[in-house]
Amino acid sequence: MSIVTGIEEEHLSGAVSGDEGNKPVPSDVTLDKNGDSFHTDLSPKYFNGVEISKLTKSQMKKYQKCLKWEKLKKEKRAKERLKNKEKKRFAKEHNIDLGPSRKKLKQAKMKDSPCKTSVVIDLSFDDLMIDKDMAKTVKQILRVYTLNRRAKAPMQLHLTSYGGRSKKEMERHHGYEHWDLNFHSQCYLDIFPKSKLVYLSSESDIILQTLEEDKIYIIGGLVDHNAHKGICYEKAVKQGIAHAQLPISDYFWMKDRKILTINQVFEILLGVSEGKTFKEAFEEVLPSRKQKIPIEEKLNESQTKKAELDDSNDTINDPPKN
Ligand SMILES: C[S@@+](CC[C@H](N)C(=O)[O-])C[C@H]1O[C@@H](n2cnc3c(N)ncnc32)[C@H](O)[C@@H]1O
Repeated sequence: MSIVTGIEEEHLSGAVSGDEGNKPVPSDVTLDKNGDSFHTDLSPKYFNGVEISKLTKSQMKKYQKCLKWEKLKKEKRAKERLKNKEKKRFAKEHNIDLGPSRKKLKQAKMKDSPCKTSVVIDLSFDDLMIDKDMAKTVKQILRVYTLNRRAKAPMQLHLTSYGGRSKKEMERHHGYEHWDLNFHSQCYLDIFPKSKLVYLSSESDIILQTLEEDKIYIIGGLVDHNAHKGICYEKAVKQGIAHAQLPISDYFWMKDRKILTINQVFEILLGVSEGKTFKEAFEEVLPSRKQKIPIEEKLNESQTKKAELDDSNDTINDPPKN
């Protein structure tokens, strides 16, 4: 029995973030003859490297919280499995086509995909990131990989300037070198025709309207909390390659900045490559309604505000009634 799932499987479950480091560790982990680990005693004896009996009050609180979360997670998974089983049974009984299975989707290779549009993640910014952000960058790339693997028509996905710290971080993920992903140590300029490159940047004054199949869209492989504002835009201008921002402002007014994460940008591109409109892709991927308002609503809102202001000005300027 193996209780250690491969990182690929973990990421195929869709997790981008999570506090795996806080997982309670069962004490007796033994290896079977295949080298797989199993537990002979499932009650945790350590938490974050500290014996359970020696935990402080606050560590104990954290530990209890983790146990509760682990239990909830198991229950949630069991419920999902049951729901899926039920869905499949219902589909079979009613002759409903549920589309290709997850297993089939996972087998779909990029090279056989009808989608020939390429996406590059530019990993030339390793030196600008602290360790935590470097790890976040790789986590987002893993999410991108998962999304692409699950897609009916995967996009042609490349990592460029791959080496150094990003490679080291990637190497922590078992079996990554066999993934259906193109790794290049060179810069995209050494791989693709310059005329086909489009660097995506929220700072660009050009709005992307459509995805073209022969173009290569570059996403900056950078998590910087915008400490390096406009770095990708400046790079594109310096290198003399095309640049564009996603057409978010055509459809939504965003409360926060329009700067998205690497995986959000990719998910939008993937959605559009699958036939969604940009608006539909934004609706699915962008954070909740609280942070984005359809542009028509925002226009109405500001027109109403203006009318109210005009009214109150009229009142102020009205001559006093005798
Ligand atoms: C977290 S952002 C990096 C922000 C970085 N300070 C910069 O100026 O590029 C990661 C990448 O996602 C892409 N991106 C994020 N928001 C975007 C938008 N609204 N339009 C186009 N590309 C975007 C860009 O390629 C960007 O480099």
